[in-house]
Amino acid sequence: MNRITRRRLIGLAGVSAAGLAAGGVGLGKAVEDGGAEDTVPFYGPVQSGITTPAQDRLHFASFDVATTSERELRDLMRAWTEASARMCAGRTAGPTNATGVLPPDDTGEALGLTPARLTVTFGFGPTLFDDRFGLASKRPAALIDLPPFADESLQPERSGGDIAVQACADDPQVAFHAVRNLARIGRGVVYMRWSQLGFGRTSSTSRAQDTPRNLMGFKDGTNNIKLEDEDALRRFVWVDDGDGPAWMRNGTYLVSRRIRMLIEVWDRATLDDQEQTIGRHKTSGAPLGADREFDPVHVDSLPVDAHVRLAKSDVRILRRGYSFTDGVDDRLGQLDAGLFFLAFQRDPRTQFVPLQRRLAQNDALNEYVSHTGSAIFAVPPGAAGPGRFVGDGLL
Ligand code: HEM
Repeated sequence: MNRITRRRLIGLAGVSAAGLAAGGVGLGKAVEDGGAEDTVPFYGPVQSGITTPAQDRLHFASFDVATTSERELRDLMRAWTEASARMCAGRTAGPTNATGVLPPDDTGEALGLTPARLTVTFGFGPTLFDDRFGLASKRPAALIDLPPFADESLQPERSGGDIAVQACADDPQVAFHAVRNLARIGRGVVYMRWSQLGFGRTSSTSRAQDTPRNLMGFKDGTNNIKLEDEDALRRFVWVDDGDGPAWMRNGTYLVSRRIRMLIEVWDRATLDDQEQTIGRHKTSGAPLGADREFDPVHVDSLPVDAHVRLAKSDVRILRRGYSFTDGVDDRLGQLDAGLFFLAFQRDPRTQFVPLQRRLAQNDALNEYVSHTGSAIFAVPPGAAGPGRFVGDGLL
């Protein structure tokens, strides 16, 4: 819960991100250089963590900016880019870790771990484009405020935010370490609004991956856009020239939805009911009436309110969500667990919004789920190489 007001934080903000990034003596060579194994390149035309084969773990954090200085915001994105590039390469977040009179530049809990295919992906929320930084005229039209949908129970303390950080890795401690160190670097400039841990991927984003299962026990990600689908990526994921402001070219838009599953209710539904709800067989993942997971879906043969029937469309999205559990709902004594839905797309106005509208109205799954958090972010292109930073086209 966020109890500190933005105004108060502006008053407290003294230390700039750049001030914290000063150089010094490095750690031993092995740690400084990191390893090439298990490494996903940070720099590139698009950000990693989108078409990267989905890692097993997630730590997602949404930050609000406490300063009103565009320069401090720029310095922050520069410092965050540099630290992220280092951490993704398996190095420490910063170079100064052996000076007794200074706090180390790296908190240390990832020392000795592999990079675990860490990716760090940044996004800018609609609120960053208010009047604080003079960015209003640069807000892309596609970065809408999401409209309300039927029957959602959104909690403000789990929704929105100025800047998103999505850290994915095959090791939970590596993902946590990345978010923690970025938060530390940003201290005084940003504060964390909400964060979400994900313990298992609920999507495959490459044909080389097996389809995982979500907490309802169903294979999830079968008909997802995969990194091998270059045509679909161009059509449905990457922002192209002419789609909006030039700074978003090769970017994409991220919608996050924290979807709580009413697991206790689901677990009392019969297998037939469960399969009719999704529109696929539970064990094989095949469409109802078919045998194999990747057999074609014939929507006309599915119940009118089956999730897959309503979700299938010529307009597609790239899903990259994670299972979560956040302990117990005190009022009901039930697990607070579900699917932290993450979807990347070229234009949420024509992709997520109509899709979610259809689902919110008619999906049989609604009996078993409740949307408790929501956010949308413009995900800029990647930093092309050292010296560049994520968002430098905007800031
Ligand atoms: C807890 C909530 C949800 C659960 C448990 C769930 C589960 C599933 C499952 C099991 C499949 C079939 C396997 C596959 O093709 O990936 C599927 C497909 C799909 N879902 Fe969901 N889903 C949820 C929420 C959503 C939401 C919020 C959206 C978008 C607004 C969505 C969009 C899709 C799409 C586009 C497909 C592929 C349909 C196709 O082309 O065959 N899902 N989902």
